[in-house]
Amino acid sequence: MESFKDRLLQDTSDEEDDSQHGQKSKHQVVSQEGASFIFKLISACSICFNAIFICSILIILSKDAPLPLSKYVGLQKNVPFSFSHGDFYTSSNRSIADAAWNAPIVQSWTGLVALSEDYVQSHDLLPAQQWPWDENKRIYILNGFHNLHCLDVVRQTVLQAYDGKPLAKPLPHVVHCLDALRQEIMCNADDTPRYTGRLNEEAGRDHPVSGIGQQKLCNSWDKLYEFAIEHSACYRPVNMSDPHFPELERFKFCPDGKRVWP
Ligand SMILES: *[C@@H]1O[C@H](CO)[C@@H](O)[C@H](O)[C@H]1NC(C)=O
Ligand SMILES: *[C@@H]1O[C@H](CO)[C@@H](O)[C@H](O)[C@H]1NC(C)=O
Repeated sequence: MESFKDRLLQDTSDEEDDSQHGQKSKHQVVSQEGASFIFKLISACSICFNAIFICSILIILSKDAPLPLSKYVGLQKNVPFSFSHGDFYTSSNRSIADAAWNAPIVQSWTGLVALSEDYVQSHDLLPAQQWPWDENKRIYILNGFHNLHCLDVVRQTVLQAYDGKPLAKPLPHVVHCLDALRQEIMCNADDTPRYTGRLNEEAGRDHPVSGIGQQKLCNSWDKLYEFAIEHSACYRPVNMSDPHFPELERFKFCPDGKRVWP
């Protein structure tokens, strides 16, 4: 069997043979060398210009240009946030935790908005169902609030399972929600490297959590909430256990107490 080294040697000797037996005139060789030199020069210049071009773009992006605005609400990743241990959301006192999870700012139905036809068209949105109180407005749920809805479905299910209570949500709904959150996480592809080990705020801990105290920049949830309130579809999922309760009645809960129905 031919070894790798044999083949390598053979390849090199083939090349030598070619150059020995090649019959090129001196003129040909000189003009080829000239062309090759010009080609190398052009390549080198091109690489340099590309490098300068990319560097200047990176400098513009990192310093001078304002942060890009999100497409629909115009949010900017400029709100400092640090990874932390629990707060009210993780309180072992269930009534404190429930109050946190049920506050309007994180309620999924807060994110149901009625957007005008103009807004829909200028933002390239797919059509949606009409808002009952204005034929010129359509109903959307802001994705962040849909994510919270899914998180709440998972939370409810986990708590019911731990409490040994009957599970209220059918498994396919829970699985849909888990997958919706997976999709969001992968769509975000967050590249923040979280430090590990008993360091920084986690110094001296038995079971350190990665990244605690580390900062990153986020969109403003407060601004998203403001947008949701300003464009509220006035929906609240009341009397859900009553199958005969008219759906229209659920669109009469405007956050500002305004009466939008006739
Ligand atoms: C839980 O929190 C509520 C509200 O702060 C309080 O009234 C209640 O006593 C707490 N329960 C326990 C078991 O600590
Ligand atoms: C429907 O919900 C409202 C508001 O929560 C409540 O006042 C009312 O009693 C409920 N009606 C029925 C039929 O459950």
